[in-house]
Amino acid sequence: MTAYKALEQRLLSTPHTWLVTGVAGFIGSNLLETLLRLNQRVVGLDNFATGYRHNIDQALADAGHAPDSDAFRFIEGDICDLETCRAACDGVDFVLHQAALGSVPRSIEDPLRTNRANIDGFLTMLVAARDAGVRRFVYAASSSTYGDHPDLPKIEERIGNPLSPYAVTKVVNELYAGVFARTYGFRTIGLRYFNIFGKRQDPNGAYAAVIPKWIASLLSGETVYINGDGETSRDFCYIDNTVQMNILAAMTEDEAALDQVYNVALNDRTSLNSLFGMIQERLLQRRPDLRPVQPVHRDFRPGDVRHSQADIGKAVRLLGYAPTHDIARGLDEAMDWYVAALS
Ligand SMILES: NC(=O)c1ccc[n+]([C@@H]2O[C@H](COP(=O)([O-])OP(=O)(O)OC[C@H]3O[C@@H](n4cnc5c(N)ncnc54)[C@H](O)[C@@H]3O)[C@@H](O)[C@H]2O)c1
Repeated sequence: MTAYKALEQRLLSTPHTWLVTGVAGFIGSNLLETLLRLNQRVVGLDNFATGYRHNIDQALADAGHAPDSDAFRFIEGDICDLETCRAACDGVDFVLHQAALGSVPRSIEDPLRTNRANIDGFLTMLVAARDAGVRRFVYAASSSTYGDHPDLPKIEERIGNPLSPYAVTKVVNELYAGVFARTYGFRTIGLRYFNIFGKRQDPNGAYAAVIPKWIASLLSGETVYINGDGETSRDFCYIDNTVQMNILAAMTEDEAALDQVYNVALNDRTSLNSLFGMIQERLLQRRPDLRPVQPVHRDFRPGDVRHSQADIGKAVRLLGYAPTHDIARGLDEAMDWYVAALS
């Protein structure tokens, strides 16, 4: 039995209270769904900057809960507001902090706004969680922290210079987390997500991630653009692996596993050209009425790194991480959802 399977069994019979910030977003709503399935109580905090109420509604429904479920309490508010964060942390055992403004290009266009949500908001949540005496604070870090470091696969200890304002904010999160451990003895775990994908990831808007954006474009007959020659590669990681890492990190009792950051990925590298092929193949199987198309290549995007692949040995060793979905299985599940949601 994997460490995660054993934890699931334990959680099912032992309800705790979890705070999920960014609960109306992609990753947050998936955390909500899994925690409710595991009989946990969840407090959710979100200001709908990029998230949607329908993500929460769907997470509740998918977990078999009514919209007014007693197991879930929602607070609409901003993580930059200390009183809101204090109210959200009240009586909470575990914090899964996801709220932030994602997207490298958004941060290049509006670094002030990204800085406020991702650094002021992060620090405010840290203070509130520390004062509330929560048992564990797990936060969304990012692979963008590796910046211009050339090594592949990426190992947690070796990072380069950040290549965007967004990356700076995620580096600063890790620095603050370290300082809170050393100064206040407040224990955290950071999860450096590599390109996460799955249901409820927003396909719309200028800052949409590549997988949902391409699926939506293919479904609606719009041109699919690939930035650069398409040989840019990423370690795409399915949402179920990400949820698993959050729960493993929150529940670990191994001292050596605390005050650490971990890569959340597969240790696999897929080029954008191959990704496009995998997506189109799956879509045509489900929608034979669609015609195969060729993507259009355009300029590289500023701030993007060329290749990304994670070493996941640290998460396997210290947290017992055992990814359940490779990219093919993840795309199969995500595709079923997108075809149902967007057709
Ligand atoms: N999706 C990925 O591939 C990926 C990769 C690396 C890191 N991350 C990080 O994971 C976290 C979740 O990302 P996601 O993909 O689910 O994005 P998302 O945009 O779907 O979710 C983020 C949520 O945070 C909320 N939010 C933003 N600012 C807020 C504020 N000031 N107060 C309260 N709520 C606020 C948004 O409304 C949204 O619901 C973020 O911290 C992101 O930086 C994601």
